[in-house]
Amino acid sequence: MAQLRADKLLADTGRWSRRDAKLLLRSGRVRVNGAVIVKGETKVDTEGLILEVDGERVLWQRFTWLMMNKPAGCLTATQDRRQKTVLDLLPPELQRQELRPVGRLDKDTEGLLLLTNDGERAHRLLSPKSHVDKVYYAEIDGTVAEEDVRAFADGMTLSDGTVCQSAVLESLGEGKCQVTLREGKFHQVKRMLAQCGKPVLYLKRLSMGGLTLDNRLQKGAFRPLTEQELRILEG
Ligand code: URA
Repeated sequence: MAQLRADKLLADTGRWSRRDAKLLLRSGRVRVNGAVIVKGETKVDTEGLILEVDGERVLWQRFTWLMMNKPAGCLTATQDRRQKTVLDLLPPELQRQELRPVGRLDKDTEGLLLLTNDGERAHRLLSPKSHVDKVYYAEIDGTVAEEDVRAFADGMTLSDGTVCQSAVLESLGEGKCQVTLREGKFHQVKRMLAQCGKPVLYLKRLSMGGLTLDNRLQKGAFRPLTEQELRILEG
């Protein structure tokens, strides 16, 4: 059974820094399995843990999973010397958790981006064997034609020889469409649509493997995945 320090458990939730967690504990506001714990160094069993702060249940998980509504203009990277990254959008207590983006969106692409420090599960999610559908909304110069839908369904070979698996292209009317892919090749949506003569003007990821972007999240905002969403990830 894993045992962790009480201040670490609180900091792991991403809501408090280790320092603030120690202060919370010292002020007697934290209960573990019903008992008040005041020392940061007190070891706590994580199995069946009931953690409460000011009488309210706080969910502790071994790993942190966040859903972000990535804004345009920042890189899907952990750090960059010149440009803003998605990690720069997080508060210091979450930046300390060694979170990484799960897959990548282009600098100008918006929408659903998962961030986690659970490298193993992230890797599984990204593996082509997992067959995780990614759904994108695109605004394009032009309107999707029947032949474009067929070209996507047949699987396309791009001009540099990149072979794309069968994908679903749906027209949403003039200048708008939805694309569903099972893979994540470099600039794939943009390149596939460009090959049909319909360059992408705007791109947003709506969902990934059953997880849908929470439309209450403003651009640049994020929230932890709910227990239900974590169960979806487990498959
Ligand atoms: N396809 C693209 O072209 N860009 C993205 O950011 C994601 C998928």
